[in-house]
Amino acid sequence: MSDAAGAMSHLVLVGLMGAGKSTVGRICAGRLGRPFVDTDDLVVTMAGMPFTEFFAEYGEPAFRQLERTAVADVCASPTPLVVACGGGTVVEPENRRRLRAAGVVVWLRAPVGVLAARVGDGQDRPLLAGDPVGALTRLEAAREAAYEATAHVRIDTGDDDVDDTVDAVLRAYEVEHT
Ligand code: S3P
Repeated sequence: MSDAAGAMSHLVLVGLMGAGKSTVGRICAGRLGRPFVDTDDLVVTMAGMPFTEFFAEYGEPAFRQLERTAVADVCASPTPLVVACGGGTVVEPENRRRLRAAGVVVWLRAPVGVLAARVGDGQDRPLLAGDPVGALTRLEAAREAAYEATAHVRIDTGDDDVDDTVDAVLRAYEVEHT
């Protein structure tokens, strides 16, 4: 972790599903007065159909391909952004490299129990279908190293108030991006 952040200085949030990337990211963007972008939203726009429908019809590899394009696009934006990344973006080495070079990457981490409570039955998240706790447990084990390798900073959120998390993220951004 750490090391100097990239020149473009986006604020990038990574972490498992339910970590609060979109909620926290939107508030951070408001506080920084800059645009907020969610890679999942970009994928939906590119796919031209609802997320779960695209996933069901074309499968995960096709989704990951669109996601790679979304990551490349946000990273190339000359306007500093706040970016919430879909939980699986960090699995792809090229995404890791791009995100880390594009700004400050903050890993929002929370215990699986907290994540599971937030995602509920996981019905809008195909990888969680049927068994959110089991899936999140497996994904955490499989991805921890990738989050660690991508992030400049890790913030353990637990059950914290969202405003506390936002403050912690913005403090970390201030320290890391200069
Ligand atoms: C995924 C996370 C989701 C979404 C897709 C796959 C993952 O995004 O990209 O369902 O592989 O962890 P969020 O982390 O924003 O829920």
